[in-house]
This record gives sequence, C-alpha cells and structure tokens, in this order.
Amino acid sequence: MKTNLSRIRKDLESLSRFNATPGKGLTRFSLTPEDRGARDYLKSQLEKLDVMVYEDSAGSLFGRREGTNPSLPPIMIGSHFDSVKNGGNFDGQAGVIAGLEVLRCLEENNVPTAHPVEMAAMIEEEGGRFKSGVLASRAMAMGLTLEELKRHRDEDSISIAEAMASFGFDPSRIDEARRNPGEISAFLELHIEQGPVLEKEGFELGIVSSIVGTDLMGVNIQGRPDHAGTTPMDMRLDALRTAAEVIAKIPSLAIEEGNGTVATVGTLVVRPGAPNIVPGEVEFTLDTRSIQASSIDKVKDRVINILEEKTRTDGTNFQLDQLLRVDPVAMDEEIGKELRGQAKKLGFSCRTMISGAGHDAMVMASVFPTAMVFVPSKGGRSHCPEEWTDYEEIQKGVELLYHTVIELDGR
Ligand code: GLV
Ligand code: MN
Ligand code: MN
Repeated sequence: MKTNLSRIRKDLESLSRFNATPGKGLTRFSLTPEDRGARDYLKSQLEKLDVMVYEDSAGSLFGRREGTNPSLPPIMIGSHFDSVKNGGNFDGQAGVIAGLEVLRCLEENNVPTAHPVEMAAMIEEEGGRFKSGVLASRAMAMGLTLEELKRHRDEDSISIAEAMASFGFDPSRIDEARRNPGEISAFLELHIEQGPVLEKEGFELGIVSSIVGTDLMGVNIQGRPDHAGTTPMDMRLDALRTAAEVIAKIPSLAIEEGNGTVATVGTLVVRPGAPNIVPGEVEFTLDTRSIQASSIDKVKDRVINILEEKTRTDGTNFQLDQLLRVDPVAMDEEIGKELRGQAKKLGFSCRTMISGAGHDAMVMASVFPTAMVFVPSKGGRSHCPEEWTDYEEIQKGVELLYHTVIELDGR
C-alpha cells in the first residue's frame, strides 16, 4: 500500500490527547483549548509538507498542495475534528487524517496533480458546543450570517461569535468562508460507519449513496415554579409534566412513520432544577431524521400538534427554535462509480449504503460534487467512548481515497 499505517495510528493517537474528559471518552468542543491543541498538532504535521496552511474565516483548517494547472479548483478531502460530549476517537478525525495522509503520499511519491489537493479539518460539525452542527460546511457551501453566529450560544451563554472572537477569528468576516459552486471540484469525506452493517456483512468499505435529512428543533416549555409541598396537584403549571407527556409519545410517532425514520430527545433541562420546586421551565431537543424529507416533516408536525393540544389544556406555554435543518441528499454518482471501481482494483470489498448519521458531506453535496467512504465500526458503536475502528481498516479507506484523487485529477 502507498499509505502508511504507523502514521495513521500516530495521528489518531496524537489527536486523542486533546480531550477535555480523559477516561470518559473524547470531548473536544470547538474553539476550546482542546480544539487549539488538535489544530496545532494538525498544523505541525502540515508544515512538514510542501503545502500552504491556512484557516478560513469560519475557523476551519486547510492544507493546500498546489496543482500544475492554476485554473483548476481543488479536490478537497476532509471531515471535522470536533467531537460530541464523551464520544470516541474516530468520528470526524479519521476523515481529517485521511486528508493529511493523502497529501503526504502525493508528496512522498512525487505525484504531480493538475488540480490543487486540499485537506480540510472542519469545526463544530457535531453542534456539541453550540447545538447548531455542520457549521463550517454550512459556512463554506451556503454561507452563514453574523446574526446566526450571535444567536447560538453554549451552556455558559457564550455565542459562537464571541467564542470565535476570543479564539482569534473575526465573526464579522464569516461570509468570506463561502465558496461558490465550481470552486471545489470534488469533496471527499472518509468516516467511520457508526453503525453495524459493514462489520456484520463482512465488507471492508462502504460507499455512501445518500445521507438522511436531519431536523433539530429546540423546544422550550414554560410553566410556573411553585412550592413542591404546598401546591396541590390540580393547581400546578408543571412544565416537566407537560414535557414528559409529549416526549413519551415521540418514539411511537417515528415508528408509525416507518421509512427508517428516527426521532431522539437527547437533552432535557429542568429549571430551576430543585427537588422541592415544581418545574417552572423545561427545555429539550428533538432530533428527527429520515431518508424522506416528508417523513421528517410528518413526525415533527405531529409533535407540534401534541404540544399545542397539551399546552392548551394544561395552561403551560411553549416555543420552538429551529436549530438545524438539512434535507436528505444524494452523493455524486460519478465519483461513487469511481470509488467502487478503484476499490475493486485495490481488492477491497465494498457495498453501497445510506448514511443515517449527519456529515459535513451532506452540506457540501448541495453545492459541490461530493462522495463519502465508510470504514467499519466495531459493534456498530459510535458517539460513545467504546467507538473503535482498527487502524488497518482505516488505512484501506485512506488508500482508496489516495488512488481515487489521482484518478479524479486525470479525468
Ligand atoms: C453527527 O454525528 C450526527 O449525525 O449528528
Ligand atoms: Mn458524530
Ligand atoms: Mn462525524
């Protein structure tokens, strides 16, 4: 193989040190000291190569190896280097170091390319800190506004704009991160599968055909805080009771909808949050995904109807906050065909599959020709400390990208 297993291992092990929760999985939120550490590691690796290292105004890091034809747009390989809370060492960063390793191999093997080849390490894909994910890819493909950066806040009420400014980025220049259609000739993302299919069916690689749509909504229910001992049950405006009754119905709504539709309430905040106070306010998130946009909408509409009905009868109020919406999207068929052909040549078994997880690729695909390669996840586990993929398995995906980049460059 052209790619180097020990470098891949070293990169992933090195990145795993930049972690806010050692011993409890990996937590690396964007624009934090852990982000700084990982970013500096990646920069130090890029600086060993003959590439231009730069950051865009959204805070993503790039390494660009120039091509021989200055009029051609880059082939970009990348993923994100932030993580969920208490997640694993592979989600995102496997795709970042794939880009790094492709750059190294092009240089090592003296392969000139007509197109520039870029590695992208993107921030805030998970939305772990600001609950508004795929931030860097949205800035790149769709454009973000300063208002959006001011609107989303972390648990300490710091906005994205404030966090960017204290990290050294100028949020008022966010529009400069946007790239027009045609400015990236192909975007390739390697990622762990995060599900059990490849391992169970014995495939070495997955080629993604499409990615499910995601709708993330914040729900805020307002009741009234009262004494938990003295307020009779029929005189309360208990926000948690309302929330609990709504939340309990959500799984069956997704099941009834079918189409592989999933709905998750992954956060719940009770305020003021004391054993002896009737909950005055509750906030939770509803994450709904499906390969059919209409299924997402149906589940969401039914939840909103239930919220309206409940709050009307029990006297509480609610507000919704649309945190993220990305429709289901297909990957580029031509690049998919190229990936399958290269996998065959290299002797890697692969299957075509849908991604149930969200990725930067789903945003990039709306503007640039985009493709994704999956490598198997042990036991299908992900977004947890147990997340694991053997380095040898990752190497096969990186090897496939390396050969595909050369092939795409020559088309
Ligand atoms: C990211 O991993 C997501 O699917 O939300
Ligand atoms: Mn993830
Ligand atoms: Mn990811």
